Amino acid sequence: MKIMAIVGSPRPKGNTDLLIDQALEEAASRGAETEKIILSQYQVNPCLGHQNCSSFEKCQQDDDIPAILDRFRGAEGIILGSPVYYYGVTAQMKAFIDRNYFLARHGIRLSARCTGLVVVAGGGGIDQTVRALRRYIKLATEMPDEKILIVSGYASQPGDVNSNPSLLEEARKMGAQMVEMLRTN
Ligand SMILES: Cc1cc2nc3c(=O)[nH]c(=O)nc-3n(C[C@H](O)[C@H](O)[C@H](O)COP(=O)(O)O)c2cc1C
Repeated sequence: MKIMAIVGSPRPKGNTDLLIDQALEEAASRGAETEKIILSQYQVNPCLGHQNCSSFEKCQQDDDIPAILDRFRGAEGIILGSPVYYYGVTAQMKAFIDRNYFLARHGIRLSARCTGLVVVAGGGGIDQTVRALRRYIKLATEMPDEKILIVSGYASQPGDVNSNPSLLEEARKMGAQMVEMLRTN
């Protein structure tokens, strides 16, 4: 059982990353194989907008995304985390989402059977950002709403979430629930 997380924050050990670590640690303690990709540590270029991707055998962008997507599309559980940047996802997360277009144009859907969404804001924009991530999941999978779990909260400086034990606990609970969902379905 594999759970793969994509971190859209450019701050390693930032709030999004820390919450995702909680979820993954809990999932691993319950037997899941886990992997975490911090997008800012890879070369992630934006979509070039060819739109006729299906006429290409591989994405025309020569970067780290095809290898990441190869593993991501096979993961049974996926976690997407992004801080709110201007009421939406970060540029790194948006580029990741857009690059899924290559899979979509080849008729490839993600295999994930459950999803965790992690969104952190300084003050506003959580709903809009969750909506954007949820919309992507709905386009890339046939996942029912009840298989999409959400953890969101407020934090500003890196590490702020560490003084919010209930948010940390929510993230751990999400990891545990994902393992449970994958076990029972
Ligand atoms: C470029 C930029 C844009 C931001 N836009 C928003 C915003 O629209 N709403 C908000 O509540 N916080 C905003 N923030 C604050 C971050 O969401 C907040 O600091 C969050 O804790 C960062 O998460 P991280 O520690 O995982 O990187 C913004 C921060 C940056 C750097």
